[in-house]
Amino acid sequence: MLTPIIPTPAKSPNFEAPNDRRTILSPTTMATGLKDVDYGLEKIMADAQDFLPLLGTDYVELYVGNAKQSAHYYKSAWGFQSLAYAGLETGVKDRTSYVLVQDKIRLVLTTPMTPDSPINEHIRKHGDGVKVIALWVPDAKKAWEETTKRGAKSFMEPVREEDENGYVIRSGIHTYGETVHIFVERNAYKGPFLPGYRAWKSHYNPEPVGLKFIDHMVGNVGWGEMNQWVDFYARVMGFAQLVSFDDKDISTEYTALMSKVMSNGNGRIKFPINEPAEGKKKSQIEEYIEFYNGAGVQHIAVATNNIIETVGALKDRGVEFLYVPPSYYDTVLDRVGEIDEDLAVLKQHGVLVDRDDEGYLLQLFTKPVLDRPTMFFEIIQRKGAKSFGKGNFKALFEAIEREQENRGTL
Ligand code: FE2
Repeated sequence: MLTPIIPTPAKSPNFEAPNDRRTILSPTTMATGLKDVDYGLEKIMADAQDFLPLLGTDYVELYVGNAKQSAHYYKSAWGFQSLAYAGLETGVKDRTSYVLVQDKIRLVLTTPMTPDSPINEHIRKHGDGVKVIALWVPDAKKAWEETTKRGAKSFMEPVREEDENGYVIRSGIHTYGETVHIFVERNAYKGPFLPGYRAWKSHYNPEPVGLKFIDHMVGNVGWGEMNQWVDFYARVMGFAQLVSFDDKDISTEYTALMSKVMSNGNGRIKFPINEPAEGKKKSQIEEYIEFYNGAGVQHIAVATNNIIETVGALKDRGVEFLYVPPSYYDTVLDRVGEIDEDLAVLKQHGVLVDRDDEGYLLQLFTKPVLDRPTMFFEIIQRKGAKSFGKGNFKALFEAIEREQENRGTL
C-alpha cells in the first residue's frame, strides 16, 4: 500500500526544463553505472506552479467489457496481485470493480452490470480503455477548487466517502476525450483501497514481474488539438512543458506524429500529448483516434528496475511486444555509447536504448492489449535519463524500413 506523505516544501529548482534541441554529449564521453531515476517530492520543474501538489498516480481505472476476465489477464500475464473488490457482494448493483496492485501501481477494472449504465456507452464507443487517471493529493477539495477556477470542467464535486477504515475525499475534473482525473485524498484511510471496497483474497497469486510505478501516461488527441491540451495542463494544473517533438523528430518518409510532454513540479506525473501529423500514410495517432472514437489514453509506461527480467517474464506469460529488427542493434551503440547491459541480451529481448545528457534509458513497447489498435504498454528502465526515447523513434522506424527494403516491400 502507498503511505501518504506530506509534501516537503519546494526547494529551489535544480532541474532546467530541457528544450527539444539539446546538444547531446558525445556518447564516448559518457560514464555508465548510472542509477535508476527516483522522483522525490521536491520541485524539479522550474516553470511548474505550486497550486496543485501531486504525490503520485493513485490508480488507473479502465472500463472493460468483462472485468473478471480482464483481472485474470492482468494477474496471469502481468503479475498484478488481487487487492480489492466491489460488486453485488458488497452492495454495489450497477457495476463490478476489481482492484489489482503491483508495487505502487493500482489498476481498477470496472464493468457495467445494467443495460443503461453510462459505462456501457463508454465501452460501446471506445472499447475497453482508460476512464480515470486518479492522482494522489494532500487536499482533494483544494485540488478541485484550484483546477475548476482555472477553467477545468467538473466531473465530481468533492465528496467524503467513509467506512470502518476511515475516510477518503475524492473530487474530479474532465480532461481530453471522455477521460477524467480524480483527485484522491487518503491520509485518513487505512482500508485496502477505497470505502465501499472489500479486501480481495485469492488462491491464485502469480508472481509479480517487477513493475514498480507508472512513469508516464500518454494521451492521443485529434488533429490540431495538442496545444490546446498542453495549455490545459499548464494553465489548469500548473504543469510545465518538459520537452516537445515535432513531426520531423517523430516521422519517417511515411508516417508522422507530434508530441509535447507535460510534467508536474516534482516530475512524478508526466503526460505526453500526441497529435497526428501529415505523412504519406496514416499517422498511428489518427488510427487510434478512429478506433477509439476520439481522444484517449494511448499508452501507460510502467517502470522496472530490471527490464531484462521484467520483459523476459512478460514474454513467458504471453505478452506480445513490438518486433525490433536485429539490424537496430548494428548501430545502437554508435548512438548511445557505453551501457551496462550486454547488447546480445538486449537484442534477444528486443529492448531499445536511448541516451540524453543525464544518462540513458531502456524501453520496449507491447502490441495493443485490446482488439482495437488503441491502448498498449511501455516498459521503461531509466538509468539517469529523464527523456522519452526520442532517438528510438527514428531509429526504430528506420530499422523497420530497412527490413521492409530487404523484403522488397518498400
Ligand atoms: Fe512512452
